[in-house]
Amino acid sequence: MNKIFLVEFVLLCYLKAGTSFLYERQDQSNTSITERQPRLIGLWSWGWGVGIVRFQNSACTGETGLVGTCYTRRQCSDIGGSASGSCASNIGVCCVLQLGCGNSSSYNNTYFVNTNYPTPVTGGSRCVYTIEKCNSDICQARIEFISVTLAQPDGDGNCVNDTLTIRGGGSVVPVICGENSGQHVYVQFYEDQDIQIEVVTSTGTFSRIWNLRVMQIACNCPTIAPSGCLMYYTSISGIVNSFNYGSTESSTLNSIGATGTRQLVNQNYGVCVAMIPGYCSIIWSQTSYNSFTVSNDTEAYLFGSNAGTFGNECPYDFVIVPAPYLTNGSLFYTDRFCGNYFPTVEIFSAFSKPFVLTVVNNGNDTADVANRGFSLSYTQQLCR
Ligand SMILES: *[C@@H]1O[C@H](CO)[C@@H](O)[C@H](O)[C@H]1NC(C)=O
Ligand SMILES: *[C@@H]1O[C@H](CO)[C@@H](O)[C@H](O)[C@H]1NC(C)=O
Ligand SMILES: *[C@@H]1O[C@H](CO)[C@@H](O)[C@H](O)[C@H]1NC(C)=O
Ligand SMILES: *[C@@H]1O[C@H](CO)[C@@H](O)[C@H](O)[C@H]1NC(C)=O
Ligand SMILES: *[C@@H]1O[C@H](CO)[C@@H](O)[C@H](O)[C@H]1NC(C)=O
Ligand SMILES: *[C@@H]1O[C@H](CO)[C@@H](O)[C@H](O)[C@H]1NC(C)=O
Ligand SMILES: *[C@@H]1O[C@H](CO)[C@@H](O)[C@H](O)[C@H]1NC(C)=O
Repeated sequence: MNKIFLVEFVLLCYLKAGTSFLYERQDQSNTSITERQPRLIGLWSWGWGVGIVRFQNSACTGETGLVGTCYTRRQCSDIGGSASGSCASNIGVCCVLQLGCGNSSSYNNTYFVNTNYPTPVTGGSRCVYTIEKCNSDICQARIEFISVTLAQPDGDGNCVNDTLTIRGGGSVVPVICGENSGQHVYVQFYEDQDIQIEVVTSTGTFSRIWNLRVMQIACNCPTIAPSGCLMYYTSISGIVNSFNYGSTESSTLNSIGATGTRQLVNQNYGVCVAMIPGYCSIIWSQTSYNSFTVSNDTEAYLFGSNAGTFGNECPYDFVIVPAPYLTNGSLFYTDRFCGNYFPTVEIFSAFSKPFVLTVVNNGNDTADVANRGFSLSYTQQLCR
């Protein structure tokens, strides 16, 4: 290990993604780079102790748990990243790119954060972040809401004070506010257009914080989401929450003076679940006994015998599970669910493919009282 003397690193070539090259001159000729760098993918020696070392710019996990890319220290500082641990047998640094308001990035795994993150923003601000494709073979951006806490909507479910808006892509993303840590969205690129994320906060002294991880997904990537899915889950089982779902009621009154709704209005999107080989159906169920409140008066009807409503009784706000069956094999008569109860936990399995949960919430939640949205879990079932 300590036999080597790397006197000088000169950056020869700088690539966004691919490989990094280090030109190194050694004043000792008794060294063996191959011994020291077993994971290097290429090595050429030019005469007396002079060589080029090349390593792959692969993803790495930095010391803070954030995902970075393996670059040379120089490349990392050139792109505004911070070195967080080492990679490529200590020749590279795990370069974590965390950028504040106003930045653009074409780097995979860029984290866009609020000013002075993780210190919250308490007043009015407007931040625009721009995602540029890192190459022409990129089709989607997966935006992970590592943490997104914005002001709650008004009592009618409108994001009046704070908004997170994503524009420029080929698919519509609903405007989001409130508590959304742990959520994610997939946004299709529209031709070569950039995707913009805009976060606006009002002057109200609420503590907001946001950290958005942006992953670029190549068109031929096996984990690409089916076109049009806003959310995409790829595990056998998981939990799907509506935006700003929370166990506590809105603390604001709605415009008719009743307890407000924290469910956001104007939501219309598909949640897709990747079918795992060997699995044929999917069961959707509430995650807790009161985790489905999407329409009507939650204070009056929660847990009541008529709490859940279906089909025609769900004209405005509802979720759809296509062609659901009861576990006794009977086809259920409708696939539209609303109200304050999702039918008996774990009786519904849908055989319809692909696995999609459609979420619809219109622009007027005024007649709704104390809705909180939904938290549903899904479990794929083995083929029988
Ligand atoms: C290799 O170089 C080191 C540092 O100059 C020196 O101390 C050592 O004796 C050398 N070893 C051989 C085998 O030449
Ligand atoms: C980009 O983010 C960095 C780090 O937060 C910040 O210092 C810089 O001002 C931002 N650049 C632009 C162009 O806004
Ligand atoms: C929005 O901000 C205003 C001004 O601070 C505040 O009075 C109001 O309560 C806020 N609305 C909500 C829904 O938080
Ligand atoms: C970006 O990074 C993610 C995870 O680190 C990876 O799955 C994806 O393939 C990368 N995208 C490209 C274009 O390399
Ligand atoms: C709310 O639910 C109750 C009980 O199921 C029902 O009688 C009433 O018609 C519903 N109201 C609306 C507006 O859906
Ligand atoms: C399945 O259960 C439902 C609800 O309990 C019932 O209406 C239906 O008749 C049952 N079907 C069969 C085939 O037993
Ligand atoms: C919203 O719904 C309420 C109650 O159903 C209704 O009175 C009101 O006119 C609607 N508002 C709009 C803008 O459609």
